[in-house]
Amino acid sequence: MSSVFQAPRGVPDYVPPTSTRFLAVRDELTRAARLAGYSHIELPIFEDTALFARGVGESTDVVSKEMYTFADRGERSVTLRPEGTAGVMRAVLQHGLDRGALPVKLSYHGPFFRYEKPQTGRYRQLQQVGVEAIGIDDPALDAEVIAVADEGFRRCGLAGYRLEITTLGDSTCRPRYREALQQFLFGLDLDEETRRRAEINPLRVLDDKRPEIKAATADAPLMLDYLSDSVSENFAAVRGHLDRLGVVYEINPRLVRGLDYYTKTTFEFVHDGLGAQSGIGGGGRYDGLMSQLGGKQELSGIGFGLGVDRTMLAQEVEGVGTAEPARVLVYGVPMGERALDRLVTVAGDLRARGVAVDIAYGGRGLKGAMKAADKSGARFALVLGDRELDADQIEIKDLADGSQVTVGLDAVVAEISSRVLSG
Ligand code: HAM
Repeated sequence: MSSVFQAPRGVPDYVPPTSTRFLAVRDELTRAARLAGYSHIELPIFEDTALFARGVGESTDVVSKEMYTFADRGERSVTLRPEGTAGVMRAVLQHGLDRGALPVKLSYHGPFFRYEKPQTGRYRQLQQVGVEAIGIDDPALDAEVIAVADEGFRRCGLAGYRLEITTLGDSTCRPRYREALQQFLFGLDLDEETRRRAEINPLRVLDDKRPEIKAATADAPLMLDYLSDSVSENFAAVRGHLDRLGVVYEINPRLVRGLDYYTKTTFEFVHDGLGAQSGIGGGGRYDGLMSQLGGKQELSGIGFGLGVDRTMLAQEVEGVGTAEPARVLVYGVPMGERALDRLVTVAGDLRARGVAVDIAYGGRGLKGAMKAADKSGARFALVLGDRELDADQIEIKDLADGSQVTVGLDAVVAEISSRVLSG
């Protein structure tokens, strides 16, 4: 006998009842974005490889080690999207959205692919809800994006996370800092690969998780000490807006994100209950991405990606949002063929009125069918046998309090509908 297939390593399935929670988390995070005026954008799952290489940055682990890249049958190099920002920018430019009203506010959700070492909370197919606000550089907008993420996590019932923010400077002050950091790093005894990283993107080295590198870079110069006056004012303004919005944050001057496009405001939401994979969401501003991808104007953008998988894990740690929801409101219990025929019609009528109904198929006995009704979480069971049919009646059993009434078959749809409406 052949063995049962398994999903590819590091690729989670979400099966009922967890899949219901998956949708709830995705929808709550998205709802937070809707409440701030973000419109949905549906993007391709794969794009030209060059888009990510150029957009995300060649020095990142994401591009250099983790992309699912392959040649299609026409020998074009394509890549399963590792993140959403580069694709959104590509679509904005392709469809000329940058020539319309600004900012362009877009949100997206779906799977992303990174060939990482799988462990709890770190998957090769991960799910994100993201937003991008493109074309306006305003600290109030930075604060709004952060507040939307915060609101999304709260809507999912989370309370035990922290928000870390910093600023990564801009073209007026970043080069000076980069030079100082490189000078510091080149004074260390670094291995070949790390030295190369220090040359391409020295900030990356501060993100190195190896204890010896962490120790060696403990006294590295910090971006916050090299800010130009305008960036410094910008960062202060972002913090002021966050304070007014009641969003609690801490400044982490060593915050480094895994993607290269960030400038100025940068942030990460961290859940300490999750162990090593504690980042439940992150994002920031990106100034140069649009021109990097061939845009005519230099439009700045800001956005975030929130991890749906990790938000679900955080819910489990906090014991929130995990109550099993009812699958249907009404469960049909037919005793015999004739009863089933009639219940199928009743179920159809109820569904047409927006009431969720399931039926005990397969000729189960009363006991088995009632057990299935309980398991479904239904509020009402509709019990129908030959005796009731002959009297043109049906029994409505309230599964919450055990009470039951018999009503006319032609009145059952109206009766259930009115009970549903009255709660
Ligand atoms: P990111 O920090 O790479 O940012 O990913 C955002 C979130 O996706 C992370 O905080 C984490 O919750 C989740 N995530 C990332 N990798 C994995 C994984 N292997 N398994 C499970 N969850 C994961 C971005 O992707 C940027 N595009 C965000 C952004 C939008 N910045 C500006 N705009």
